[in-house]
Amino acid sequence: MPTVTYELPDGSVHEVDVPCGQSVMDGSVRNNLAGIVAECGGSCSCATCHVYVDAGLFDEVSDEERELLEFAEGVRPESRLSCQLIVGEGCGGVRVRVPDTNGL
Ligand code: FES
Repeated sequence: MPTVTYELPDGSVHEVDVPCGQSVMDGSVRNNLAGIVAECGGSCSCATCHVYVDAGLFDEVSDEERELLEFAEGVRPESRLSCQLIVGEGCGGVRVRVPDTNGL
């Protein structure tokens, strides 16, 4: 099972085993990590699951995700919505940084 490392806004770092097929958002919410609010539950309509992640390990940004990211604060080139990042076998060791602007 791939391990995803979450860097939270308070500076803490958490390693979580996330089953393939679940999202990076799921791994955070199921482990009660602060920072990924996920108000819409993963339906790509709130942008409160914003994270920074290096490109390449996940599917490309969809038009729907790109449009929603326009409403997120602190957007950078490496911004993604973590509910759209589906973990696969090749995702082990991925590190995501959670901004402190997700509606906390
Ligand atoms: S959880 Fe709402 S857009 Fe990701």
